[in-house]
Amino acid sequence: MRSLHDVLALISLAGGVALASACGAVNADAPGPDAGTGLSGDPGVSGVLPCAVDKVLAANCRSCHDSSPKYGAPMPLVTLADLHAAARSNSSRKVYELVPERIADDTKPMPEPPNARLSAADRATLSEWSAAGAPAAGPTDCAVAPPPPPVMTNCKPDLPIGPASDWEMPTDSGDEYVCYGVELSRATPTHVVGFSPRIDNSTIVHHVVLFEADAAVSPTPTKCSSGGSLQWRMVTGWAPGGKGFELPPQAGFPLKTTGSTHYVVQMHYSNPQALAGQKDHSGFDLCTSAPRQYEADVMAFGTQKITIPAGAAYDRTCSVTIPKQFAGLHLIASMPHMHKLGTEMSTQLFAGGATGAATDLGTITGWNFNTQAWLGIKGDGAGGGALTKEGDVITTRCAWKNTTGADVKYGEKTADEMCYSFTTYYPRVDSSLWSWALPAASSTCK
Ligand code: HEC
Repeated sequence: MRSLHDVLALISLAGGVALASACGAVNADAPGPDAGTGLSGDPGVSGVLPCAVDKVLAANCRSCHDSSPKYGAPMPLVTLADLHAAARSNSSRKVYELVPERIADDTKPMPEPPNARLSAADRATLSEWSAAGAPAAGPTDCAVAPPPPPVMTNCKPDLPIGPASDWEMPTDSGDEYVCYGVELSRATPTHVVGFSPRIDNSTIVHHVVLFEADAAVSPTPTKCSSGGSLQWRMVTGWAPGGKGFELPPQAGFPLKTTGSTHYVVQMHYSNPQALAGQKDHSGFDLCTSAPRQYEADVMAFGTQKITIPAGAAYDRTCSVTIPKQFAGLHLIASMPHMHKLGTEMSTQLFAGGATGAATDLGTITGWNFNTQAWLGIKGDGAGGGALTKEGDVITTRCAWKNTTGADVKYGEKTADEMCYSFTTYYPRVDSSLWSWALPAASSTCK
């Protein structure tokens, strides 16, 4: 194993396309009042349709009442303003007032025959909304609320962590690494056993890593000190497409009962479009529990020795042999990580040497930067996971296709590349020389 001086890397899970916000987009494609239809909307109406109403109209009415109405339908039923416009057949009445009448009209029903009539539930949704005066979506309606947090399967988050203040992304900076600290102390022994990422501004957040540091870090989001994260213990990470992560019942990340545990949230922001006024206060919701039998940790297999020639397909296969002091580790979950030029990634454990029986430690054949998640490891270790033995060989293969006109190297920027398979394991390696990056930094590649 090499010493830490050789560990050059900064952790990074960079780059990527922002996630679409789930429901805020419902009306985003809809034209505003009057847009393009030539029909009169009510310019005094502001706001968007409540999600439930929008859903019924989208599923049952817009095949005809689209923004450009079809099949003889006289008006669109797309925006709130469309519903508040004067009816074509009677200008003293509003479209929304006619809706309950026409959906209940057995001689001239809407939807028009031969289309099926609305279900009783859908009819009630439209009629009750109309009777209430067809209000805009309220602040808690799904049409304007942020997307719900990813669902954790069993544990219920009870410890939210976040920054002391918003970070505002400078308009002129493409990539930015920003850190904030959170001090956690518990009167009784406690383990953190689950992580639910809370992504606030999905336009600029491109990855989040949670570390445990040896000293307190400012709670106010500040540019990270270069190289700082190498001395920290990695706890968990999130990248586009990721969800919550929960440890198996025998392991957890301990919190101190004397003094405090110094957690650091490292945010990678990316603002390639130079948008102004982008703010963020992302964090995590943690699940805590009574102490578990083992203390968990994260390490990374792979390599930092990457130079992908311009315009070429390229791959590296990098191996580490498990030394005696790293035998008996349970590898329980992995998050394979490359950047945007990646095509395939696979990590395997070969029992007793390179020709031994293989256990998959995380394979992704069609790499997609936007769907990076923690994968469970199946193996023969008690309680699931793969158990390391002295002499086992762990091999990570990363493959890329460089579609750019320049060589691409390892690095933290969106346009750089990586080959890390972050792997959660227990019990912790107990050594002052230990770093999460050591297995990757000490691998040999061909
Ligand atoms: C298959 C096409 C089609 C579908 C689907 C459809 N409509 Fe219509 N709609 C029409 C046509 C054509 C007219 C004009 C003729 C009429 O009034 O019957 C119309 C007229 C209306 C009118 C009367 C407008 C006025 O000015 O008098 C209302 C209200 C209406 N539709 C509501 C709805 C609602 C609500 C739905 C969905 C639950 C729906 N429609 C589904 C074709 C459709």
